[in-house]
Amino acid sequence: MVHINPKSSSREQWGDKLGFIMATAGAAVGLGNIWRFPYVCGENGGGAFILAYIICIALISGPILVAEVLIGRASGQGSGSAFISLTPKGESKIWRFVGVVGVLISFLLVSYYSIVAGWTLEYLWQALQGHLSLFSGDNSQKFFDNFMASDSRQILWHIFLTCMTAVILLRGINKGIEKLSKILMPVLLILLFSLAVFGISVEWTSHENPTSLLDLKSIQFLFVPDWSKFTMDSVFQALGQAAFSLSIAVGTLIAYGSYLDRKENIVNLGSMVIAMDTMVALLAGVLIFPIVFASGLSPSQGTGLIFVTLPNLFSGMPNGDLLVILFYLLIFFAALTSMISLLEPGITHLIDEMNSTRPKACMYVAIASSALGVIWILVGSLQQEFLFLNIDKIVSNFLIPLEAFGISIFASWVLDKVISKEQLSNAGELFFNIWFFMVKWLCPIAILIILVKGLISQDMGG
Ligand code: PHE
Repeated sequence: MVHINPKSSSREQWGDKLGFIMATAGAAVGLGNIWRFPYVCGENGGGAFILAYIICIALISGPILVAEVLIGRASGQGSGSAFISLTPKGESKIWRFVGVVGVLISFLLVSYYSIVAGWTLEYLWQALQGHLSLFSGDNSQKFFDNFMASDSRQILWHIFLTCMTAVILLRGINKGIEKLSKILMPVLLILLFSLAVFGISVEWTSHENPTSLLDLKSIQFLFVPDWSKFTMDSVFQALGQAAFSLSIAVGTLIAYGSYLDRKENIVNLGSMVIAMDTMVALLAGVLIFPIVFASGLSPSQGTGLIFVTLPNLFSGMPNGDLLVILFYLLIFFAALTSMISLLEPGITHLIDEMNSTRPKACMYVAIASSALGVIWILVGSLQQEFLFLNIDKIVSNFLIPLEAFGISIFASWVLDKVISKEQLSNAGELFFNIWFFMVKWLCPIAILIILVKGLISQDMGG
């Protein structure tokens, strides 16, 4: 017998399918697309990496995304209780654990995601005041280093952003998440598109390396594979990026799925989200590479790419102030919609499980997440790079794959096939069978390999 929450009939729902698409695309499009994708792609053979990334999305992350939305919608509950309410016996400690871990991952992730998102606000703030000289020449690295050394400013932005997100979430699914995503996502796409067109069409010459950008070298770099830089590790990186970028295994998609109307076609909506997410990542590459190439730099600049190299290059261009503002506004919008989606699983959990009201749940989650972020900043300043090297590694290389493993096992081996078939009925029998095979065999095996590989390289100090 399947236990469906009696409250689920009175559950708030997305106003329409566009609302779900924009909110979920908002979750997917984030720092991962604009910050991480371009440099990881640059380090792993450009087009070769893109090919591997797209294959990972099609075979692994995409099917898991569908599984999560399905689990959310079928149960009408957030990750914490979705699994147990769909288990045939209705009680299982393991599935309860898997569900709660999903919520905990989102909580952990948002506590440091918002710190990086806060950096974009600092840059935006400086640019809005016209302090462009902070980013020119050697100043750029100095500014970044000084800012990293300033705990108080990082704490300020982190808390400000977390509270701002909570205030949006306070307004609920329709008036909060949906309404804002429907505005921010189109604005983000227009901004990104305009900046990318600018990136490939501007003729910009630097003193050291006068280059015209119209040779489209960068576009070639992005789309023509360089197999010499593509290693086995690139495959793992592609899979990790495909999981992070689609926001799988953190409770977000289950929570968002629980607010989705039963008549909607999960596969169609999911495909649109995936297409949008991939398009944004590629456009971010189209925007960033031409500028990096024209300045004679390498595209594999690591994390400094968007906080040191790019502001420096933008500030030397005509209308540099406007470019810097638009660029950080773009990243900020992307980060904000992702933060919303990362705080929501915790809020949904408190509402579903603790009978909390939405305002109270928002307040508790915001306070807890702010506090944890402050700890990361303080610890991070004592122990250099602690934050991103350790916490992010644990979350991205260990917790997310483990949770994704649990989800694929649940959706294929545990969940009654009648339920999954019914949820995906409008996608057709053939699709269902292909999806089922991938979630049952391909996903768990691929994820296990990743996990083992991650543990081995950890042992070897990698
Ligand atoms: N997908 C987001 C990004 O690319 C990150 C994220 C992960 C957001 C998980 C929500 C949930 O930046």
